[in-house]
Amino acid sequence: MGKILIVYGSTTGNTEHVAEVIGGVLQKAGNEVVLKNVTDAGVSELGDGYDLTLLGVSTWGDEEIEFQEDFEPFYQDMDNAQLQDKKVALFGCGDSSYQYFCGAVIELRTKVDTLGANVINEPLLIDGDPSVARSEIEEWAEEVGRAV
Ligand SMILES: Cc1cc2nc3c(=O)[nH]c(=O)nc-3n(C[C@H](O)[C@H](O)[C@H](O)COP(=O)(O)O)c2cc1C
Repeated sequence: MGKILIVYGSTTGNTEHVAEVIGGVLQKAGNEVVLKNVTDAGVSELGDGYDLTLLGVSTWGDEEIEFQEDFEPFYQDMDNAQLQDKKVALFGCGDSSYQYFCGAVIELRTKVDTLGANVINEPLLIDGDPSVARSEIEEWAEEVGRAV
């Protein structure tokens, strides 16, 4: 059992929903979960006193990859994140009809790798409406929870 931080950026509520489902599973497993919209979070909190840090973001843009708008400044600031050797897992919502499916999560992966984080699971990428992917989300969260 551990202390887990989940930070998400979400415009229409899809990634927020996924974050809430993940948080619920991890809490039920006995962890202390802090769930934050990225608008209420600072980069200095990442990994700080947490056994696991989860980051969730949706992808926007069309011709090029754009991060969900609230997450974009946070992402730019992440070069200062102290994530060396910290356990991290990533998730996000997108739509595979776009050229770069969940491109923001893929870019985020590169960033946390560069920071020396220990990415514990393959990122969870949700295609379309997350409410129909509930069991996939729960299974992923259970797997992630086993690494805490
Ligand atoms: C204008 C627009 C651009 C989008 N661009 C992408 C994209 O490049 N890649 C992708 O995977 N999804 C793309 N999407 C789909 C969103 O990421 C998807 O609707 C997601 O569920 C939104 O999550 P949120 O409510 O958490 O922000 C786009 C959606 C819109 C409306």
